[in-house]
Amino acid sequence: MSKRPVIGVFDSGFGGLTVLRELLRHLPGADYLYLGDSAHLPYGSKSQAAVTRFTASAIRELTSRGAELIVIACNTASALALASLEATSPVPLIGVIGPGAEAAAAAPAGSTALVLATEATVASHAYAHACAAAGLNAVEKACPLFVPLVEEGWVSGAITEQIAEVYLRDVLIADAHDPESAEATPSVIVLGCTHYPLLRPLLERVAERIAGIPVPVVDSAEATARRTAQLLPYATAALGEPRIAFFATDSAAKFARLGPQFLGREIDHVEHVDLDD
Ligand code: DGL
Repeated sequence: MSKRPVIGVFDSGFGGLTVLRELLRHLPGADYLYLGDSAHLPYGSKSQAAVTRFTASAIRELTSRGAELIVIACNTASALALASLEATSPVPLIGVIGPGAEAAAAAPAGSTALVLATEATVASHAYAHACAAAGLNAVEKACPLFVPLVEEGWVSGAITEQIAEVYLRDVLIADAHDPESAEATPSVIVLGCTHYPLLRPLLERVAERIAGIPVPVVDSAEATARRTAQLLPYATAALGEPRIAFFATDSAAKFARLGPQFLGREIDHVEHVDLDD
């Protein structure tokens, strides 16, 4: 790899920008290619075959543009496609599920993590397996309305708060009549979808209201960046401003408008690309 590596970052849309934000913090000595497959969003309601096909196309696109390592910054693609694509990928791939489970592992061993994710991620049970490897039990909850709410910028307000309350109520309240349920009461919430960090303050508020105590909320972005930094330690020191190129398979204008709230900085230019699926 070159001294200043080119890291490809791939998501179904904007959510992976929350991961890019952490990569920029942890690996300022790299350059970045970010590809959002917004034309196929949401991945979370699609089949494994479709998500694998889209992810394979994205890997081809990013490697043809010079990516030397690719972060699959999408939980759904990491859950459904990563394992089958790793063997054939010409460059190393890093997913977000393992790091997400590791981020939860600060909770005492044997405790339960509540994983909020898309329907496809939940159905794959990828988080249940990754949490088990980290010594945690997992309760997985699909929250299909969160992605469209975040895409519309509805990250606070009464409607989103009510929806979060409905999703969280059953999985956060222990059943007083079931002696085993107290043990299953989650002690940490994992944001198992890259869109959800934008809902973090709202989810923290709602979870505390339901549980009666603060429930720590973690996401995979920082843990993923730390894992990437272990592979590319020479990129952890700043070497001038990183170059970042953005690509989207749907409206470049929409990407440039919505992306900054995920990335935390302005996005000057977005190039439209079509994937070869
Ligand atoms: N980025 C996806 C994830 O992390 C969520 C959006 C989608 O459904 O495509 O699972």
